[in-house]
Amino acid sequence: MGKEPWIIGNWKMHKTHEEAAAFIAAFLEACASRLQGKKIGIAPPFTAIPSMMRAVLGSGIMIGAQNMHEAAQGAFTGEISASMLKALGVTFVLLGHSERRQYFGETDEKVNLKIKSALAQGITPILCIGETLADREAHQTQAVLQRQIEQGLAGLSVAEIGRVVLAYEPVWAIGTGQSATLQEAQEAHAFARRCIATDVPILYGGSVKADNASAFLSAEHVDGILVGGASLEPKSFGEMI
Ligand code: PGA
Repeated sequence: MGKEPWIIGNWKMHKTHEEAAAFIAAFLEACASRLQGKKIGIAPPFTAIPSMMRAVLGSGIMIGAQNMHEAAQGAFTGEISASMLKALGVTFVLLGHSERRQYFGETDEKVNLKIKSALAQGITPILCIGETLADREAHQTQAVLQRQIEQGLAGLSVAEIGRVVLAYEPVWAIGTGQSATLQEAQEAHAFARRCIATDVPILYGGSVKADNASAFLSAEHVDGILVGGASLEPKSFGEMI
C-alpha cells in the first residue's frame, strides 16, 4: 500500500440523522488531528446525509451513499438518483454490496448501470465484489470475482475504470466476526487486480475491527478497508484511524 489508505465506514441501516451528527462530533473530538494523509469516508443512511455534511464541514471526511438508482429521474417510487446525491455533496457510493445483491436482487447488469450513472455525476463508485462460502468451497472464488468485475465494469473506458474503487468483501466474512486471513485477502486482491485494465484502489471488507485493521492496511495489494459494524462507534472507528 503506497498511497493514502482508504478507511470507509458502511453504516447500513443504522442511526438517525441526529445520532449521525452526534457520532461526527465525538469522532472529530477524538481524532481530528489524525485524519490527514488518509481518505476517510462514511456512508450513512440517506436520511442522515444532510446532517452529516454539515457535521463534517472542513474536516476532509467524505460522505457517501450505500446505494442509488441508475436512472437520472423518473417514476421509481422510493428511489434516489446520482444527481440527488451529487446535489448533497456526496462523493462516493457503495454499489453491488452483497446485501443489495442478496436481499434486493441486484444483478451485475444493474450494478453496471449504476456505476455508469455515478461516474456521469462525478461520484466515485465503490464496486463491492465477493464470493459466498458455497462459492469458496466449490473453488469458484476467482470465477465469481472475475464475473462481478467484468460485468460490473462492462462498457467502461480505461479512463472511466480508473475512477472506480473496488472493495473485496467475502460474503462469509461480513458481520460474522470471521475475517478473511491476510493471505486469502491478498490472493483475492492480486487476482482482482489482474482482472482490471488499469490500477485502481482495492479495499478489503468483512469483519475488520480495531485489532486487525492495521494488518489489513499493511498487507500487499490492500489499499484500504471497508468497515461495517466497527464503524458505528466513534471509539472503534477512531482506533482504526
Ligand atoms: P462488517 O461489514 O465490517 O460488519 O463485517 C462490512 C460490510 O458489509 O461492508
